[in-house]
Amino acid sequence: MNPSTLFGRLLDDGADALTVRASDGDVWSMPMGRWLAPATEVDERVLDRAVGPVLDVGCGPGRHVHALSRRGVVALGIELSPTAVRHARNGGAEVVEGSIFEVAPDPGCWSTALLLDGNIGIGGQPRQLLRRVAELLGDDGCILVELDPEPGDRAPEDDAPIRVRIESDGSTSAWFPWARVTAGAIDAPAEAAGLRVTERWSDGGRHFCTLSRA
Ligand SMILES: C[S@@+](CC[C@H](N)C(=O)[O-])C[C@H]1O[C@@H](n2cnc3c(N)ncnc32)[C@H](O)[C@@H]1O
Repeated sequence: MNPSTLFGRLLDDGADALTVRASDGDVWSMPMGRWLAPATEVDERVLDRAVGPVLDVGCGPGRHVHALSRRGVVALGIELSPTAVRHARNGGAEVVEGSIFEVAPDPGCWSTALLLDGNIGIGGQPRQLLRRVAELLGDDGCILVELDPEPGDRAPEDDAPIRVRIESDGSTSAWFPWARVTAGAIDAPAEAAGLRVTERWSDGGRHFCTLSRA
């Protein structure tokens, strides 16, 4: 099954978590209930750093765009899954449907881009993703990135692509490329995209950084 189709079905079912299996056997859970709920206090503190206009890459059901709009900050989501786009728009978000690698709304005009809750993994090649997002930023723009917790068994420089699939109640998606990037592994892909880490922080057990032009 197409990953977007299974993802959309789980969104409509209001699933609390989504199981991801990597082709190397690693299995982890992603917090779908969190994506469907309003932004948490930790999310709100990340958004305190966001200067508008904000581009939310892979906005899912749109909680960050909704939270920014409530603050009066101009925000736009880009999202691949038509079901997630519907959820986000139902909540009042402006969203462009399509892939970040194909859709380029107002290049050069964004002050902040968001890659939150695992979205640094989109496309499986963090360097390419960061280059693409950096292209869309204004001169003083920055990217707020959420990072994976440091794993015990992975090298800190490991931002290599992996193949994953979504699993739920007997349904499995086709394999698709993804990446997991820890706080110790973000510098190299950032540098390759002409960016540098200007802030790192942890909050509520989650890990974040700000990337600005080098
Ligand atoms: C891990 S979820 C995060 C959702 C949201 N950022 C949040 O924190 O609530 C990843 C989202 O990225 C979307 N996505 C995956 N590949 C994409 C692409 N190439 N372009 C745009 N969105 C994409 C997925 O459909 C999904 O909604």
